Amino acid sequence: MPYFDHSATTPVHPDVLELMAITQRDVYGNPSSVHAQGRKAKSIIEKARSQVAAAIGAKPDQIIFTSGGSESNNQVLRSVLNMNKKHIIATAIEHPAILNVLKSLEQFGLSHNCISVDPNGTMNFHEFENSIRDTTGLISVMLANNEVGTIQPVQEIVKTAKPKSIPVHTDAVQCLGKIPIDVDELGIDYLSLSAHKFYGPKGSGILYIRDKKFISALIIGGGQESGLRAGTENIALIAGIGLAAEIATADLSGRARNLTDLETQFKTGLKEFFPNAVFNGNNVHKLPGLINVSFPGFRSDILVAKLDRAGMAVSSGSACASGIVEPSDILKAMGVEDELNTSTLRISFGSTNTADETTDLLSAINSIITS
Ligand SMILES: Cc1ncc(COP(=O)(O)O)c(C=O)c1O
Repeated sequence: MPYFDHSATTPVHPDVLELMAITQRDVYGNPSSVHAQGRKAKSIIEKARSQVAAAIGAKPDQIIFTSGGSESNNQVLRSVLNMNKKHIIATAIEHPAILNVLKSLEQFGLSHNCISVDPNGTMNFHEFENSIRDTTGLISVMLANNEVGTIQPVQEIVKTAKPKSIPVHTDAVQCLGKIPIDVDELGIDYLSLSAHKFYGPKGSGILYIRDKKFISALIIGGGQESGLRAGTENIALIAGIGLAAEIATADLSGRARNLTDLETQFKTGLKEFFPNAVFNGNNVHKLPGLINVSFPGFRSDILVAKLDRAGMAVSSGSACASGIVEPSDILKAMGVEDELNTSTLRISFGSTNTADETTDLLSAINSIITS
């Protein structure tokens, strides 16, 4: 079944799957044990840490393994509870694993500003500069958005924050294997990743931490992961994250080019038979292969269901609960009206998609909207 929903999750790369199976079977020692089996498990974790670090230009000891992007985001945001400065700046289009954490932290006296975005989904920089306070303890702005793919000016954010000694976190969950990530070039202090977005296993993630002294553990217990995440490590998953990160960043420009080619093919082909299509998001500063497109006059839930029946997996840009299509908060924040908002599809290409599959997707959409 042609799958065009890689921003939701990706299939596990066959080499990653094989490595995880072998590791699960053969490496049963506890990495904290001093005997040979323990040391073998430990060395697998440290190899994966080096692979992940290399993929984002970090040092291995700046990487900790978590259960996913949500946990990594939670850990950074909740660490502000132990800081003196209790104001956080984010954007209005962050993932719920940021926005809902910010809401939950209000009860503990943490306040926040969510910066508005323009119709392309780019953060309003002026508003951002004006919202910085003496009490701002953290800035958390996603590197690229999960629904529209717009890339935020994280380097410029860091340039503004550094002189004021405000640490910057970026949720880069959608980005590894699509755009280059270099933590030093970006200048950020903390960065979240999730393995299932780059052909790794679900339930596994990464937190990059430039300086560990400001980050607190969410899970307290043994001293694993430098005391920042207790619990016996999931060696097979961690081995999988390491290899997935290495594969995702090898030949990055070739991978990005393939995604852009499929995106261009789709956009050009769609416009030929449906000129009213509206593409949402930033046309230039965006993730390759992620398309957010509105079909005026058609409901997204019906389009998704009909495409599913035709054997094609895409997602609606908006959440659908009990048969009622709810407008997407992200598109709302970008000023997209509800009618257009609820007629939106997100099509996200991945490494195994082909031009032929894209042609089939276009024909399926054509026959649905002309029937
Ligand atoms: C931008 C962004 N942040 C965070 C997450 C959460 O990641 P995970 O599913 O690994 O918890 C997602 C997943 O959809 C995401 O797209």
